[in-house]
Amino acid sequence: MSRAPTVREEAPQDVDRVREVVAAAFGGEKVAGLLDGLRESVAWLGLSFVAEEREEVVAALCYSRAWLDTPRRLVEVLVLSPLAVRPDRQRVGIGSALVRESLQRIGSRPEPLVFLEGDPGYYTRLGFVAAVDLHFTAPSVRIPRLAFQVATLPGFDQSWMSGALVYPDVFWRHDCVGLRPEMGAGLP
Ligand SMILES: CC(C)(COP(=O)(O)OP(=O)(O)OC[C@H]1O[C@@H](n2cnc3c(N)ncnc32)[C@H](O)[C@@H]1OP(=O)(O)O)[C@@H](O)C(=O)NCCC(=O)NCCS
Repeated sequence: MSRAPTVREEAPQDVDRVREVVAAAFGGEKVAGLLDGLRESVAWLGLSFVAEEREEVVAALCYSRAWLDTPRRLVEVLVLSPLAVRPDRQRVGIGSALVRESLQRIGSRPEPLVFLEGDPGYYTRLGFVAAVDLHFTAPSVRIPRLAFQVATLPGFDQSWMSGALVYPDVFWRHDCVGLRPEMGAGLP
């Protein structure tokens, strides 16, 4: 039987452990490198959460800064990336608990929207919807239409907040936008 993990904000002493969890979950250095880059970039908000079991970090999630290019002005929004659960603790509800609880905790922030790229089957259960349905445009045509997801926060005003998501350059530098052919781009 598994107990609910403890979700808390990331602390400075968690950084190395979080990096290990991210590299293990994604099976390589690429996304861990993105996280390193985020920490040193204009996108960094220090808005990261971890899930612990028996006082050990087993999952991590980061929200960082991006922009929505609306007709009226650029609006600061959040991007959820990466989300990582240690491989031996996947599929027992830890990732879902981390997303749900962290979304609740950021509900009073000024950013009106949280965007991500991910499996709609997973994130729809956690409060995300297809961003195209709310008239948002993805930052790349290499992001599958339904993988471009968004959750609205209390500050969202649908009457004027539409437009294209603009990623900070760190996502491009680490080539962490959308899919490449070897990752299944072109599949329906
Ligand atoms: C994807 C991930 C964050 C999910 O976290 P988790 O704690 O394993 O998932 P949960 O236990 O909360 O949810 C389990 C359910 O989500 C779904 N699910 C899990 N991993 C999934 C994946 N990679 N794609 C789609 N659905 C997935 C399954 O339906 C599963 O239910 P099932 O066990 O009945 O089949 C985790 O598996 C992970 O770190 N994967 C590697 C890194 C990654 O892909 N991160 C997300 C990038 S968007």
